[in-house]
Amino acid sequence: MNFVAALNDAAAKNLQTLEEQIRGAIAEDSFIYEACAPLIRGGKRLRPMLFLLCANAKEILPHERTMPLATALELIHTASLVHDDIIDTSKKRRGVETANSKYGAQIAVLVGDYLFAKAFQLVAENDYGAEVSTVLSKLVKNLCVGEIMQDRSLFVVPTMSEYYTRINLKTAIFLSSCCRLGAIVSAMNERDVENLTAYGSGLGLAFQIIDDLLDFFGDEKITGKPHGGDLKSGVITLPVIRALATSDDASELKELVTRGKVTTADIDTAIKIIHATDAVDYCRTRAEAHIESARINLPLTLKTSVSLALEQIADFVVDRTR
Ligand code: IPE
Ligand code: IPE
Ligand code: MG
Ligand code: MG
Repeated sequence: MNFVAALNDAAAKNLQTLEEQIRGAIAEDSFIYEACAPLIRGGKRLRPMLFLLCANAKEILPHERTMPLATALELIHTASLVHDDIIDTSKKRRGVETANSKYGAQIAVLVGDYLFAKAFQLVAENDYGAEVSTVLSKLVKNLCVGEIMQDRSLFVVPTMSEYYTRINLKTAIFLSSCCRLGAIVSAMNERDVENLTAYGSGLGLAFQIIDDLLDFFGDEKITGKPHGGDLKSGVITLPVIRALATSDDASELKELVTRGKVTTADIDTAIKIIHATDAVDYCRTRAEAHIESARINLPLTLKTSVSLALEQIADFVVDRTR
């Protein structure tokens, strides 16, 4: 299931223009284009789509006003994935070979930096103003802090509260910022800005919880990224945290996830232990609760077509397989 299927014609047309603009943004340098084009192709475009829907939620804004920022959001996201894959030494992303695997970490760091810089150039050249730049800078800072927190405690079991802090910083703030930026660019009132931000935040928490489930139980051919990657790189997430609290085999699981080296056989064992507990249901229930809170916060003042699309994105986030 692709959330794009749920979008109306106007949003689908926006998406077409967005693709052209993203390609245009990386075309300036031939090596960057060669390195990024295959990688950029396979993404879901959730972040720019959230921004575009919120920006056009009252009246349709001209593309010149929305597309540079929508493009910048996808470039920032892609940059963060390029760096994330270096950190996780991951070989596959969006169904293709990662930049670090193809060119080495040195080049991949610079490719990620280039994408960040290009994003901020687009924003600077299109007069979005200080508020937009502040939201963007803060979201990147928070994402870095979330990733740093995670990487400073590899192979350590986080508390529930540490887990939530981390997923809020690295993922939920990004999604909520996309919605917030849409509301700011379309000059919504304070209340709608805050409500759309809260919608994005609930969506983002659910999105990362489902991503953490997909890391164990997803199909690599559909997700486009390696299976079991979190455990391998020492990242302990909600399915494990829950299983450790409830499983009869908790001590075996704890030993396995904190040992510091995880084999493919260990991942299979962990999956079996997790599966025998209520952890999958628990994670789904938690994700659904965040989606419910997202839904409740949707302002009633939006165009029906946009409310509907945002509702459908909320459904997509819990049902998704990619
Ligand atoms: C991946 O995000 C990183 C997370 C926050 C889990 P997406 O699942 O939105 O990645 P793409 O853009 O579709 O590749
Ligand atoms: C989100 O977390 C990554 C970023 C904030 C860049 P993950 O590490 O779970 O993302 P994937 O699974 O690699 O896409
Ligand atoms: Mg990762
Ligand atoms: Mg993941």
